[in-house]
Amino acid sequence: MDKLWAGGFEKSTEPIVEAFTESVSFDRRLYREDIRGSIAHAEMLCSGGLIAESELIEIKQGLREIEQEIESGTFEFDRGHEDIHMNIEAALIRRIGEAGRRLHTGRSRNDQVACDVRLWTRRAIEETDGLLARLQSALADRAEAFRDLIMPGFTHLQHAQPVLLAHVLLAYVEMLQRDRERVMDCLKRTNVSPLGACAMAGTALPVDVEMTAEQLGFDRPFSNSIDAISDRDFVVEFVFAESLIMCHLSRLCEEWLLWASQEFDFIDLDESFCTGSSIMPQKKNPDVLELARGKSARVIGHLMALLTLLKGLPLAYNRDFQEDKPALFDATDQVQACLGVLAELVARTTFKEDRAREACEMGHMDATSLADYLVGRGLPFREAHEVVGAAVRQAAAQDAKLSELTLQELRRFSELIGEDVFRALGVRNCVENYRSHGSSSPAEVERQLRHWRDALGDRAG
Ligand code: ARG
Repeated sequence: MDKLWAGGFEKSTEPIVEAFTESVSFDRRLYREDIRGSIAHAEMLCSGGLIAESELIEIKQGLREIEQEIESGTFEFDRGHEDIHMNIEAALIRRIGEAGRRLHTGRSRNDQVACDVRLWTRRAIEETDGLLARLQSALADRAEAFRDLIMPGFTHLQHAQPVLLAHVLLAYVEMLQRDRERVMDCLKRTNVSPLGACAMAGTALPVDVEMTAEQLGFDRPFSNSIDAISDRDFVVEFVFAESLIMCHLSRLCEEWLLWASQEFDFIDLDESFCTGSSIMPQKKNPDVLELARGKSARVIGHLMALLTLLKGLPLAYNRDFQEDKPALFDATDQVQACLGVLAELVARTTFKEDRAREACEMGHMDATSLADYLVGRGLPFREAHEVVGAAVRQAAAQDAKLSELTLQELRRFSELIGEDVFRALGVRNCVENYRSHGSSSPAEVERQLRHWRDALGDRAG
């Protein structure tokens, strides 16, 4: 097999070097983008008179046949041809000869690979957005189904104030919305065509960068050919967005792992989403949540790899860039797998109303509500805080809830306390008394639910 660049070489490449430098084992998944890019490039060459109409037809036909072979698994990849780009080009030349040898006119693998990676990332961004939306829908759907469930809200992992479960679930929907905005913003910088930058300096041949950009659905062509072939910012940005998605998923998983523990016992994970233990027959393990949490480490690792890869590179192309792909591909695979499986897991999870109610009775979570009540009666908040602190100590000493103290007992802490204090005590009253914007009040949560129902449409199914 002759290498496409072997013209100036006398010796053939050592097999150990071929094995070390090849990328076709992982960049073969760019084949669709590569063929699409080559077809656009060939059309442009033809319209500029650099290849004949008949050659264009042969090239397109040949590339489509190669695409089918790859799709059906009959294409023979050869690591001697290093990467997917040269594998396809060599196969085209074998197939159609002369016309195939003209395809690489006014192009370099440097702008070609940048183009393919941009097209691939663009599709990944769109898919990720769709998967994020599905997980949002699953969460919003659970929020809707358990809209009355009150549970402890935590700060410092201590019972803080009672909240609606729906409010908690919608907090994740908000996070995921920012993730969607982030990936779609990254699309702006990804969707720029590098074709026509060639090796780095541009070319003396009359290439039409506007035409290829438009054909491939890019927003615009590059501005600076040196930047065009050495820019991998969009990869870093996308993998950063993916890392933050994984951070969010990992937080959700951690929280639900706690909720699934015997200590919290707030949720029932569907058995079909759990695994058993090989030794302890009673176990129902939440491995999906643990693995999704664990995979966040892997994706964040890829982000670090990419930043480190770029930081020392002089302009313009360096072979180091080849290492961007394993990171980008694996980060994307992991994120998409996690989003997919978690959407299903969420959809099948039920929440334990009784357990949440029991838990709400611990930790005097209506203390803040009592302080707000005293503020309503004219007491400065700092004094109210002190008064309620004393009342909580008293209740705790009696092993009672605040709402179990009598009016007389309560009035010992402040004369301002009246009969109506009992409308401020107890977790349900607390929740019903919230009224501020974006709070856990039933009306506010209903408004948030309505917003998400409209925004997400019917995606869950
Ligand atoms: N296989 C390389 C990569 O994945 C593309 C080749 C770039 N050009 C070169 N002169 N080696 O980045």
